[in-house]
Order: sequence, then C-alpha cells, then structure tokens
Amino acid sequence: MATPEGTTDVIPAPRAVDGPPGRTVPLDRGTTLWAAPGTGSTERWLRATLGAALGLPLPAGPEDARNAVRLHLDDTLEPEAYRLAAVPGRGVEIRGGSPAGVFWGAQTLRQMLGPDAFRRAPVRPDAAHAVPAQVVEDAPRFRWRGLMLDVARHFMPKDGVLRYVDLMAAHKLNVLHLHLTDDQGWRVEIERHPRLTEVGSWRARTKFGHRASPLWEDKPHGGHYTRDDIREIVAYAAERHISVVPEVDVPGHSQAAIAAYPELGNTDVIDTSALTVWDNWGINPNVLAPTDNTLRFYEGVFEELLELFPADAVESTGFSAFVHIGGDECPKEQWRASPTAQARIKELGLADEDELQAWFVGHFDRWLSARGRRLIGWDEILEGGLAPGAAVSSWRGYAGGIAAARAGHDVVMCPEQQVYLDHRQAPGEDEPVPIGYVRTLEDVYRFEPVPPELDAEQARHVLGTQANVWTEVMEDSARVDYQVFPRLAAFAEVAWSALPAPAERDFAGFERRMTAHYRRLDALGVGYRPPTGPRPWQRRPGVLGRPVEGPPPSR
Ligand code: ACM
Repeated sequence: MATPEGTTDVIPAPRAVDGPPGRTVPLDRGTTLWAAPGTGSTERWLRATLGAALGLPLPAGPEDARNAVRLHLDDTLEPEAYRLAAVPGRGVEIRGGSPAGVFWGAQTLRQMLGPDAFRRAPVRPDAAHAVPAQVVEDAPRFRWRGLMLDVARHFMPKDGVLRYVDLMAAHKLNVLHLHLTDDQGWRVEIERHPRLTEVGSWRARTKFGHRASPLWEDKPHGGHYTRDDIREIVAYAAERHISVVPEVDVPGHSQAAIAAYPELGNTDVIDTSALTVWDNWGINPNVLAPTDNTLRFYEGVFEELLELFPADAVESTGFSAFVHIGGDECPKEQWRASPTAQARIKELGLADEDELQAWFVGHFDRWLSARGRRLIGWDEILEGGLAPGAAVSSWRGYAGGIAAARAGHDVVMCPEQQVYLDHRQAPGEDEPVPIGYVRTLEDVYRFEPVPPELDAEQARHVLGTQANVWTEVMEDSARVDYQVFPRLAAFAEVAWSALPAPAERDFAGFERRMTAHYRRLDALGVGYRPPTGPRPWQRRPGVLGRPVEGPPPSR
C-alpha cells in the first residue's frame, strides 16, 4: 500500500479537514466512477488525467458501488464549494455547488493521492493507491483567482499556454488573463487585419536583459495564435472551469500594431511608416491616434475577439464576459503635439489629454456593454473619469483599486509590489536578470488582497486577485516557471484559502506543506526556483536587470 499524502498537505489549504487518523480508502483497477448529470467535465478529467497517471481505468459503475468515486451536484453548497468524503467501504464522494466545485474537489483528490498522480503515465504500474479516510469541506475566499501571462513580450507557444492552464487548475485558479498585444508583438490572428500578425507578430532582435543592458539577442523572435489556437485554448480552459480574459492593450503599448498599420499612429507627429515592432523594453511614446479610423479598426479587432472568447465559455463565475483593454502607461506627448488629437479634444469639449484617453476607453466601454460584455482595464483608466461599467485591475499599488471600489466599480487586486512575479524572489547575484525589489515566497504568502481602507460594502467590489507575469526577461517557459513557482502556490493559497491577517499567517506551516508540493511540481515537470537558490542553468550571469535603490515600499 502506498503511503497516502495527508490532506493537511493540500495546497491551497482547505477550509476544514476531518477524519480518523490512519485509515485509508483504496483506489484501484476495480474502482468505478459514477457521475451525476452536469459533472461530465470532472468525469472526463478524472479518467484522462488521474486515470492516466495512476493506471486507473475508472469505468462507469452504479451509484451505490462500494469501491467507487461518485460525483454529485449539491445546491446547498456555494457555487465553487465542494465536499469530499473518503469513507472506508464507501469509496470517495465529491459534492460540488456547481460543476466547477466538483472539479476543484477532484483537484484535492489528486493531491491526496500523492505526487505520482501528477505524472502522465504510471511509473509504478503495480502500486496500490489510497487516500486518507477524511472529509474535506472547502470553498474559495475569492471568486477571481487569476494569473496574467504576458505572451506579447516573449511569445509562449500554444502548448505552453495549455500547460499553464493545467498548472492553474492544479492550484484552483480560475482566470487566465492573456496579455496578447504590446509594443513588442501582436499575438492573435485577426482575419480582417492580417498584417497585425504578418508584420506585428515578430521582431528582428531583442534586448537581452532590461533596458540598460548592452546585450542583444540577435535573432528574430515571434509567433502568434491562430483563431483555432485561441478556440482550443478557450475550450481547454473552459473544460477546467477557467475563464480566459483576452487583453488587447490600447491606446498605449501599441507599436506592434502601428508597425503593421502606420495609419493607426500619430502620423502628424512622426513618420509612423518608419516604425518596426519594438526590440527594446520600457514605456513607449508611440501610441494610437485618437481618430475615428482607430476606433473603427479596433472595433473590428474586438468584434473578432468576442467571437473567439465567448461570454458563456465558463458559466459559474460570469468572468468570461470580460474583455481587457489595457489602458496603462500611455504617454501623452504625441497627443499634445498632434493637431489632430488637439482638434479632437476641442471638438469633444475635453479638458486635456487624460480626458481624451478616458473618452477613448469610454467608447469601448459602451461598445462592449452594448454587446453584453464587460470592460476591464489597468488602473490608469481611472484618470480623466472611469467609464460607467468598467472594472479595474489595480496594479500601481492598492490606491486605484480603493478609489474604484469606493466608486462602486469591481476590482481585481494585483499590486505590483506584491504579486508581480517578474520581480526577483531573493537577494544576491544568483537571481537571473533581477527586476524590482525582492519579493520572497513568504512575502507573497503574506499578501492581503483586500485593503483595510475599504468597508465591508466596498470590499464586496473586490472580485479577487491576480498574479501578473511580465516576460521582458523571460525568454522561454523555463524562465517563466522559475519566476512563477513556487510563488504561485503561495498566491493560490492567498486567493483560495481563508487565511488570517498577514502577520498571523503560519508561513512555517505553509513551508512544511510545500515539501509535499515540491514533489507534485517535480512530477509535473515545473522548473521552479529551489528553496536553496537557482540551479546553475537557471542563472543568467552578467545580464543586467532593473536594479532598484532604497527600501522597498511596504504597501
Ligand atoms: C502594467 O504593469 N503596466 C500594467
């Protein structure tokens, strides 16, 4: 009999675990599977993933079989809540408040079965498998438990995205925010504007390291998702109860689009036909022109995105209705210098360039609302007045999120100094291409998404939280793994579990549970940062990051 993992090692930590010590419930070739109507996604996942890993065929069987896994919907539970009961002589029963709740229960079952359950084929075909005889009652703290992948700065091929969907599911995260466009690349096929990917999806060379680095990677970099790639990603995520929220960043971060279609830029200020997809990092002055042509062009882009990212892809949360329009870091110099932009400000009776950006965002807020969708943008969309239906990703600290929640807008908390996983995770010379301040596993574990400034009513507007992965210095999936793990495990516990106030959190206990979790990550093939520091090939000696001076801001 294999030694079962204790359920107390489940990450993110469940609300409550109860059961007699020492007793187990076997899962073997005779274990059957009974799935109530509506639980098909978990039924399929159990056979395809857990069954494949452990060599368990899990054939269909009757509801009352004694050696069975049973899946039920239970409307007395909250939508994403589940109750898992492993009872000797009765098998394993998972009840979920919705199909998503059943699925999260299955993720707990996988962790209870030990690290071999995270492989793709059996490594010990004759091994017996069992879970502790326990009852797990669990529900998420936050509805929005997100991960943003910047696939624009460095392209992540489709297989890598699907792999991250699986890694998210294993951590009970449910929103994948895909940052699809930026100055350095346009990553989604738009049928009516083919040059966006023909021209915009690759660059001739890339700055290696942060902006101040003298090094160049002198080879082309690029790639994009076809329409079918996107459909596949969205469907694969939906099968795992994960919403994919696409981001097309406007009106800043748009040089790749302008390189493809120079008329989108401020042609009365610079020769936009000379622009190429950007090969460097930083905040780029070449922003979209606030013209009718630009609005019509992006309406066409969003029209295609609405078809590729259907609002009802994941029903339990409603988050598939969101479309992210970026809105961050749009320098206003070109608008100040542009007679066309100035004429528009005058014609609209606006006070300044900030209000011009608010008008631009407001246009797409109305446009998306009219199509039953919801706009979300970075907290700069507060400047010049927030559009009525907009939600805010609060990244420049908590202030934007606080202002938005107080004004009655929904908020996703993703403050840069806490949950930007591109930031270095340890001090010292060994961290590859160090960015920002040191943010350790413990720092992330003590991150609190809801600021104390909000009263209970305002705090209800905090939909949840999201970790952001900007990839300027992450050239491939191995670098992404290194930055994301193990910190995403701590983040997942913050997003899911009912943790006490930051100072009272049991980080030592979390670290102990991580011992089991590192074995799961090993079985999954995740190239995490080991607690002892990077492996030799995880270092990037001599490549300059973005060093910072002085003490880190506390909040
Ligand atoms: C951002 O980090 N510019 C949203």
